[in-house]
Amino acid sequence: MITRRLSPDELEVAIELLGDGALVAVPTETVYGLAARADRPDALAAIFTAKGRPAGHPLILHLASADDLGRWAVADERATALAEAFWPGPFTMVLPRTDLVDDTVTGGRDTVGIRVPDHDLTRRLIERGGTALAAPSANRFGAVSPTEADHVLTDLDGRIAAVLDGGASRVGVESTILELLPGRPPTLLRPGGISVVEIEGVLGATVVDGRTGESRAAGMLASHYAPTATVELVESGTSPPARDGDAWIVPSGTPRPDGVRAAQLPADGAGYAAGLYRALRDLDRLGPDRILVVAPTEGDLLDAVADRLAKAAAPR
Ligand code: TXA
Ligand code: MG
Repeated sequence: MITRRLSPDELEVAIELLGDGALVAVPTETVYGLAARADRPDALAAIFTAKGRPAGHPLILHLASADDLGRWAVADERATALAEAFWPGPFTMVLPRTDLVDDTVTGGRDTVGIRVPDHDLTRRLIERGGTALAAPSANRFGAVSPTEADHVLTDLDGRIAAVLDGGASRVGVESTILELLPGRPPTLLRPGGISVVEIEGVLGATVVDGRTGESRAAGMLASHYAPTATVELVESGTSPPARDGDAWIVPSGTPRPDGVRAAQLPADGAGYAAGLYRALRDLDRLGPDRILVVAPTEGDLLDAVADRLAKAAAPR
């Protein structure tokens, strides 16, 4: 299969390919997604083959607008208020599903993950297609999520029909996932671009951390988001003995050993998050033994960055 790179003015081609049941990687503000129409079970199944993703891992449905939420999920007052506050945006809700949702999307669960991405091109694509698009991140299973069309091609060239190039993803890490089930407190499954404090501000209720205990989201597996090199976290201000074969990722202003390969990211959390996956991919290509990473300590998205770094550094 030849994978086409589509420019924004080739949106029509992307719509046609999806209509034919093909897979198209699409830009979002978080990371690129590998999309299939939600009404094409054959295409939904093909997502798992293309990514090398184990069956049973559920997919997120992407809608053009919150108006469509009721078709796919049962939204209580909390869900409606959160959709109003954070959509379009980097925020996914896990809600009770309706019968319209294919089992391949939910992995047989009675819940479904849904969000409205904040990317004009992809929202137009969904709107024109007339149905939701199911999309996990457009990387090979276990690899770092793609934030540029080039990253998608590195992982999936020859395995998918096309990638729609919408530029670099603005947020750079995957969406926040909040589970909202009847009679249960709101539960955080994955930190992301919308913080717990923001969510609690809308709900006027405490969000429970659902990341401990049983692993409910695939993103919660210990070793996920991992490059080929070993990743080690380094406390800011400390300096482990330098080794040949090291590469570094540091917030700007952080001292690091001279003469080593390094990516400097913005010191604020949001800027750091936006560049993190690109830095991991770029440094990994140079073939270092280790990538030493200093996390940011100021600004937004600190929880999301700490979560992804812990996963990249987890034993595999
Ligand atoms: O920002 C994002 O969320 C990106 C872009 C493409 O939208 N998507 C993304 O998808 O990160 P993926 O498949 O890589 O991660 C989605 C996570 C998985 O960990 C999956 O297990 C969890 O969402 N998930 C989806 N539906 C779920 C459900 N019904 N119950 C629990 N977890 C669910
Ligand atoms: Mg993923």
